Amino acid sequence: MKRTDYCGRIDRRHLDRTVTLAGWVHRRRDHGGVIFIDLRDREGLVQVVCDPDRAATFAAAEKLRNEFCLRVTGLVRARPEGTVNAALVSGEIEVLAHEIEILNASATPPFPLDDSENLSETVRLEHRVLDLRRPAMQRNLMIRYKAAMSARRYLDELGFVDIETPFLYKSTPEGAREFLVPSRLHHGQFYALPQSPQLFKQMLMVAGFDRYYQIVKCFRDEDLRSDRQPEFTQIDIETSFLDEEEIRPIMEGLVRRMFADALGEELPHPFPTMTFADAMRDYGSDKPDLRVGLKLTELTDLMKGVDFKVFRAAAELPNGRVAALCVPGGGTLTRKEIDDYTAFVAIYGARGLAYIKVNDASKPNDQGLQSPIVKFLPEAVLRAILERTGAKDGDLVFFGADRAKVVNDALGALRAKVGHDRGFAKGRWKPLWVVDFPMFQQDDATGDWAASHHPFTAPKDGHEDRFSTDPGNAIAKAYDVVLNGWEIGGGSVRIHRPEVQAKVFEALAISPEDQRRKFGFLLDALAYGAPPHGGIAFGLDRIATLMCGAESIREVIAFPKTQRGQDLLVDAPTPVTEQQLRDLHIKVRPSDAIKA
Ligand code: AMO
Ligand code: AMP
Repeated sequence: MKRTDYCGRIDRRHLDRTVTLAGWVHRRRDHGGVIFIDLRDREGLVQVVCDPDRAATFAAAEKLRNEFCLRVTGLVRARPEGTVNAALVSGEIEVLAHEIEILNASATPPFPLDDSENLSETVRLEHRVLDLRRPAMQRNLMIRYKAAMSARRYLDELGFVDIETPFLYKSTPEGAREFLVPSRLHHGQFYALPQSPQLFKQMLMVAGFDRYYQIVKCFRDEDLRSDRQPEFTQIDIETSFLDEEEIRPIMEGLVRRMFADALGEELPHPFPTMTFADAMRDYGSDKPDLRVGLKLTELTDLMKGVDFKVFRAAAELPNGRVAALCVPGGGTLTRKEIDDYTAFVAIYGARGLAYIKVNDASKPNDQGLQSPIVKFLPEAVLRAILERTGAKDGDLVFFGADRAKVVNDALGALRAKVGHDRGFAKGRWKPLWVVDFPMFQQDDATGDWAASHHPFTAPKDGHEDRFSTDPGNAIAKAYDVVLNGWEIGGGSVRIHRPEVQAKVFEALAISPEDQRRKFGFLLDALAYGAPPHGGIAFGLDRIATLMCGAESIREVIAFPKTQRGQDLLVDAPTPVTEQQLRDLHIKVRPSDAIKA
């Protein structure tokens, strides 16, 4: 018999109908005389009841074990009074089995699939096929699918065209480390897997396609974290003839539509906009979690010349910063909690976490304030700290003093952590645009300038004049979308004039020969009447992770890599045969030679 319905969709409307279902045994309960089977398919569970008066069916039911694959035909009837399960769509009904066909038996699964146990991720990834059968993973991948489908519909409605771009690309310095693919036909030569289709989508604009999108794999050989995979998926978009202010509303409309379609949730309209400079000043981060309202307080100017060397030295550095984070009610933090936060900021390079507890602001400082550093700071400075931070009795003020990067990373992360720990997080979805990124960022150690977004990003009108005189103050037409502290997308208006592109390469110290060798194809394309254009790429994995309320993007990727870049299911990477290496003209160095 053919399947008539999905298990998880049967409800009161099916009462008294005969249905045929197919699925897996989620649970089997033998109630002495009656056997209950929770039958599971991708839509959910339904309760199947097997009575002993149907001998053949009952005999089949007696053989069942978890994860057996079945076809069941039976009659939908109401569950007896008191046995309704409100948690299930099918919770008001059950299926009285007339026929059970075992399509396949199953070995005993290595873990229960009912989400009852906290499983180790290693075990889950080794047995990913079974892990994906779990209702939580089925739901995650369905939400991801709905989000992707929603994006396609939205972009299609607006005339964006899906065009494929190559995966075998060439090595270009775009930021992250690349995966290389050796060429068999060209001795000693390599393709690189694209970090993004950035230059192809720009060339499609020059080619006149006007609006492009692609839901596409990108490859980056980076250090992996919970929000990063070596291969991940972008919703990659480009459009011609629009400027920043015209592109952003289209793109935020996409995010709103995805959340509405996949989750039925409304995101704020419009998304607030914040400059990069304001984000760093107030939140120490270019991806602030705005669910937490706490802000940093600038103190650098106050600390120049104070006795406390840690603060003075940082304030007097050209790229130094002293900032504070006031925690309302933080006076109740214990020594141990403060020590834990100190260890937390150390991850970001902070060498300490000075603090002041405000016991009674009306008293002279040495009595009203409790802190190891009060004695090093003059009365006027302490008063100014209280005033600027707005600290009141019962509050605690944390301090960071170092290079601005360290202070921002440390206090920015602390702000979000303390905020969530102490219940200052409000609201469900807090998206924002971060705009006006600098064109270039200087490496503190080497002094080299690198593109903040990528080297194809256009400067604000007129800012190319700053490249040679004041590169740090050249602002880009670049923008990120941030949601709940995650960067979910980033893009920019691109350079469409070859002479401006050459200036950026020059500012990045890429020689004219290198420009031609690496990007000649782009410079040539720009020479033939390239239209003004710009775009964005969203991280689909990250968006889906937020939608699912998951901690890691591995939860929304069917077959992800571990933190060490391995696929535990298929066991990759693996060594290859000597013959394969020969064909590719490759000789593997012994591992001791790598260390040397
Ligand atoms: P960018 O490098 O900012 O921009 O990437 C765009 C978005 O992709 C997601 N993302 C990742 N997700 C998972 N794992 C990773 N390793 C990873 N790296 C990035 C993020 C990020 O916001 N070509 C430009 C886009 C453009 O300018 O149009 C680009 O790739 O959510
Ligand atoms: P010290 O003088 O090193 O004992 O530090 C005094 C206080 O300042 C301690 O609470 C340290 O945690 C804190 N501290 C030290 N270095 C820094 C720093 N770079 N930023 C913020 N606080 C610091």
